[in-house]
Amino acid sequence: MSAATIADPRTPAAPRRKGPNLEKAGWIYMRVSGVVLVVLIFGHLFVNLMLGEGIHGIDFAFVAGKFATPFWQWWDVLMLWLALIHGANGMRTIVNDYVAGETTRRILVAALWVSAAFLILLGTLVVFTFDPCLGLSQTSPEWLQEVCA
Ligand code: HEM
Repeated sequence: MSAATIADPRTPAAPRRKGPNLEKAGWIYMRVSGVVLVVLIFGHLFVNLMLGEGIHGIDFAFVAGKFATPFWQWWDVLMLWLALIHGANGMRTIVNDYVAGETTRRILVAALWVSAAFLILLGTLVVFTFDPCLGLSQTSPEWLQEVCA
């Protein structure tokens, strides 16, 4: 049996363009953020679903408690930023691969970044400005009345 031979590529190597290689940076970002997201997402799931009372312990007080701690605020914000940029960049790759019309492709990629930026801004504001006392009323649980007194 003879060894299989592979033909030389017919497309010559493209000349190296000047300036930052954004496509390469995006490729590296997907891998690095993926590794960090594994830790953040599984840590998040473990703490919320396995520790203490597990899923039965998740209520307004649980979330309020986490958002009162800088550690969890930064954990959640990092997860939000990394996942949204990762997801938007991944969708950009898919749009670039499948959308043939240049104008449609540009509009879709722009829409991806605008929506990711909007959600990042909104989520970051929620995490850092969250105030459990804002919705306080006479029917609020006793612990909240005490915390906000
Ligand atoms: C457990 C954490 C995650 C890991 C380890 C991970 C890893 C990766 C890697 C390595 C790629 C690049 C694949 C390629 O270029 O062929 C990728 C692509 C992608 N990821 Fe993630 N990811 C994670 C979480 C997420 C999350 C939370 C989202 C959504 C917000 C997401 C959305 C995407 C999308 C849309 C793509 C593009 C898929 C494609 O090109 O076909 N990923 N992911």
